[in-house]
Amino acid sequence: MRLGVLTSGGDAPGMNAAIRAVVKAANYNNIEVIGIKRGYQGLIDGDIQRLTSLDVEEISDKGGTILKTARCLEFVEELGRRKALELLKKLDIDALVVIGGEGSFRGAEKLHELGIKVIGIPGTIDNDLAYTDYSIGFDTTLNTVLECIGKIRDTDYSHDKTTIVEVMGRYCGDLALYSALAGGGEIISTPEKKLDFDTICSKLRLRMSNGKKDNIVIITERMYDLQELQKYIEEKLKISVRTTVLGFIQRGGNPSAFDRVLASKMGIRAVDLLISGYSGRAVGVKNNKIIDVELENVNTEVNVKQDNYNILDVLLH
Ligand code: F6P
Repeated sequence: MRLGVLTSGGDAPGMNAAIRAVVKAANYNNIEVIGIKRGYQGLIDGDIQRLTSLDVEEISDKGGTILKTARCLEFVEELGRRKALELLKKLDIDALVVIGGEGSFRGAEKLHELGIKVIGIPGTIDNDLAYTDYSIGFDTTLNTVLECIGKIRDTDYSHDKTTIVEVMGRYCGDLALYSALAGGGEIISTPEKKLDFDTICSKLRLRMSNGKKDNIVIITERMYDLQELQKYIEEKLKISVRTTVLGFIQRGGNPSAFDRVLASKMGIRAVDLLISGYSGRAVGVKNNKIIDVELENVNTEVNVKQDNYNILDVLLH
C-alpha cells in the first residue's frame, strides 16, 4: 500500500503532530507515505513530497502545517476531482489521510465514492464537528484566547473598562463558550445562544451596579457589526467601550500537549483503519476514547452544549 497524506482548509495547531503520527504508523507497517502539498490543490497540480520517519522527527511541536494547506475551489468541481484521481492513480496512491475540517471531509467523501480509500482526521480550531468532542487545534487556540484575554483584563481592570472580544469559530461558539467557562469573559454571545444588544446592555448594567466596572463581552465572529455594538453599548450605558478582534493570532503557535497527544492518537487510528481495509470514515474522540464514524455522518449542525451553558449560568451570575 502507498499512502497519501494532506492537510486542507484552515491550518490548526497540531496538524503536524497528526502528520508525524500518520507517517510513523505507516512506516512502522512498511507503508510508504507521500505528502501532498496545499491540500487538494496539490493533488491537482502534482505538488508532492515523499515523507520518511526522519522528515517528521521534530515537527510535532510546530504550529501550522509542514505540508501547507489551502481551500481548493477547483476540487469542488468534477473536473478538478478527476484530475486529482488521475494523479493518485499515476502515483500508485491507493489510500489517503485527509486532515482538516468539514469542507475537507466533503472532499474526502467524494474521493471515497470514486474508489480511493480515505480516512479523515478532524483538524480545525473551530471545534464545529458535532461527532467528536474535540478537533485538533481547538485546545491550543483556546489557550491562546485565554492568554490574550488575560492581557486585555489587566488594562481593563486598571481603567474600569469594558471590552468586546471577538473570537473565531466560524458558526460554532465553542471558543467563546470554553473561554467563558475558564474565566475569560463575563458576558458571552455565541451562534448557539445569541444575545441581542439590549440583553448585553442589561447584563452589563447589572454587573456594573454590583460593582464590577471592567467586563469582557466575548462573542463569536460573524454575528454582529462590531462598531454598531460598541456604539450601542456606549450610548446606552454612557461608558467607554473598546473592541478587540483576536483574528489570526488564534491559528498560530505551538500546539498544546493535549492537541499533540490527540493528534498522535488520531493519526495512528487513521492508519490502522486503512490497513484493516476501512474507508470513508472520520476519526474522532468521544468520552476520552478514540472513535471513528462514517464521513457522511459528519456535519457542522448547531450543537448546543446545554450542560456547559448551565454551568455558565452559575459561573457568570
Ligand atoms: O475554520 C478556521 C477559521 O479560522 C475560522 O475560525 C475562520 O472563520 C476562518 O477559518 C477564516 O478563514 P480564512 O483563513 O479563509 O480567512
